[in-house]
Amino acid sequence: MIVRRGPRSRYLGAAFRAADSTDVARLADASGTKVRKLPEHLGGVTADLTDPGGVMVRVVADTHELPTLPPQPTQVFNWGHDVHRANSTQRPPRAPAKILRLGHVVLQTTRYVESLNWYLEHLGLIVSDFKYFEGQRERGPTMSFIRCDRGMTPTDHHTLAMMLGPSNRYVHSAYQVGDLDAMAAGGAYLRELGFHRSWGIGRHVEGSQIFDYWRDPDGLLVEHFADGDLFDSTLEPGWSPMTASGLAQWGPQATKDFLGLTPGRDALRELVSMARSLREENEFDLTRLRGLLKVTSS
Ligand SMILES: [Fe+2]
Repeated sequence: MIVRRGPRSRYLGAAFRAADSTDVARLADASGTKVRKLPEHLGGVTADLTDPGGVMVRVVADTHELPTLPPQPTQVFNWGHDVHRANSTQRPPRAPAKILRLGHVVLQTTRYVESLNWYLEHLGLIVSDFKYFEGQRERGPTMSFIRCDRGMTPTDHHTLAMMLGPSNRYVHSAYQVGDLDAMAAGGAYLRELGFHRSWGIGRHVEGSQIFDYWRDPDGLLVEHFADGDLFDSTLEPGWSPMTASGLAQWGPQATKDFLGLTPGRDALRELVSMARSLREENEFDLTRLRGLLKVTSS
């Protein structure tokens, strides 16, 4: 993960790591691009692609392996009658949550099926769960949670999630933290920094993560998560209707802010995109708009 200081926070693109540089060369060949050497401090090579929504996707190999940073110690719990901590108090430090790794990125696109097919074809990803608009099952899915195909090696339920919407945009990215205490204490720290909680704390359905969503002062949405499902390649995709209440097993109701319905600059931009998307040649039409509006109230 590369974070650079800029005048304002924004998402640039995701990089996927290929098994080796031969795969990067094959991919570059097949997609009419060139393999480029990455700068010395990163090492390795990249094939820089653009998905159908115009988002940069980088596929790299042979980059330097950096030593793992020391993890934040997790708490010792007493579970019911199962005592692991006697004569000792529980005092999780009130500190910034240490990020273990980037878990996933969520994107919205006006060309969902086209983009999904692009990712499956170019990166060999597989779908963990499909979501469809209620009453529009026969028109096909409008969202998918997608994982890497690592054969019998279990991997995150989703590394990428993608949904149909009125504009092509970054929705959020998610970062794994040690446990619930690290997440909650980290949240307190983010609040002090001027972030505001968008939605959480709760537990998701697809992926099962315990989640906490925060918006930075520029409006960029990020997620802290702990625990989550890992699947190998043998599991078949699930299908379910897309509803706001179906996004969590427990926790507060999904907020307007999380669903992108808060009045303001972003909502206005989305409305303008909506008008444009309905006129343009893409997969977002009036029926899909009706489906999307139902999601927020269901
Ligand atoms: Fe997420």
